[in-house]
Amino acid sequence: MDDLKNIFVTGGAGFIGSAFVRLLLEELPDARVVNFDALTYAGNPDNLKDIHEERHRFVRGDICDKGAVLAALDEGTDVLVNFAAESHVDRSIHSADEFIRTNVLGTQVLLDAARARGVRRFVQVSTDEVMGSLPDRDDAYFTEDSPFEPNSPYSASKAAAEHLCRAAHHTHKLDVVTTRCGNNYGPRQFPEKFLPLMLSNAFADQSIPVYGDGRNVRDWIYVEDHCRAIYDVMTEGRAGHVYNVGARNERRNLEVAESVLDALGKPRTLIKFVKDRPGHDQRYAIDPSKIETELGWRPRETWETGLAKTVRWYRENADWVARTRSGAYRDYYAKQYGTV
Ligand code: NAD
Ligand code: TYD
Repeated sequence: MDDLKNIFVTGGAGFIGSAFVRLLLEELPDARVVNFDALTYAGNPDNLKDIHEERHRFVRGDICDKGAVLAALDEGTDVLVNFAAESHVDRSIHSADEFIRTNVLGTQVLLDAARARGVRRFVQVSTDEVMGSLPDRDDAYFTEDSPFEPNSPYSASKAAAEHLCRAAHHTHKLDVVTTRCGNNYGPRQFPEKFLPLMLSNAFADQSIPVYGDGRNVRDWIYVEDHCRAIYDVMTEGRAGHVYNVGARNERRNLEVAESVLDALGKPRTLIKFVKDRPGHDQRYAIDPSKIETELGWRPRETWETGLAKTVRWYRENADWVARTRSGAYRDYYAKQYGTV
């Protein structure tokens, strides 16, 4: 797809969406970007405060609100990229309601609105978690053909969203492409997620809660590498196709915790093993061969360079961290971790 002039991004005040909006404004100097976000607890206007381009228009709105979506989505929009979601597994275990509402119903509202407005392409930002958990063996990988086996309310809601996207493509011939990425890390990630939670706790010399035995494996990718993959799928991916995105960077949680503490010069004794997450997926590992061979995508950051950039950003943005960790975050933390 070329000649992209009007792009509608949902969830662009969140962690990955805000990085993607920045990438779009850089890569497409003639394009206008509408950034539609409800500003839930995870959406943060601070994530956009360094964007001064008039080509970027922020609209506060809920993707479940059909009228609001249609009012903001112009006829002639080239692409709709859907990041908006409830994204944290632990919260979905406390309550699935918002996950079903935003991730499932909201996605259907967007698919319908995209058809109503003649949007040329719909990009669904999905997750490797829809494919469930892999055995702890290094010859097992997620491919685009792996079956759907979601294990948490979060991943089940994202799987449902993917089904709706598939149906819109199959039945209504909407041009839909889908990405399934692993665990992102980088600047501006809300500190409920493992990596920024560790960073912000360690800065404050607070203990780092590691679930279970810490042997669970995640496949980590720097957020800008994920955004470039979404960009490549948006511009060159085949309609109706799914692309797995991963940087071939599998690590056990304990190893990740140790790397973070070492990078900060903090003692490993801050690690504290806590009660495991119910239904905790053992291992995620992505085979990214399809996006590599078809679209020529490759990650630019290694774990070492990506982690160094991330640590630097959190160090230099202590005020951002302090603001996100105040208020409702404290209640969440107490509910999730008690007195860790
Ligand atoms: P995030 O929680 O940081 O941001 C989500 C954004 O969506 C927030 O800005 C929030 O305000 C907005 N939002 C939530 N509900 C909304 C609604 N009803 N209407 C409009 N906006 C709403 O999430 P993230 O980590 O940036 O993830 C973005 C997307 O990428 C999600 O769809 C997630 O499933 C997917 N994903 C994330 C990861 C990861 O590691 N973080 C990995 C793979 C896929
Ligand atoms: P998380 O960032 O929540 O991402 P996901 O569950 O979507 O993979 O968690 C990453 C890994 O870290 C996961 O195996 C759960 C684990 N974890 C902890 O050990 N302690 C924590 O406090 C959190 C939030 C996660």
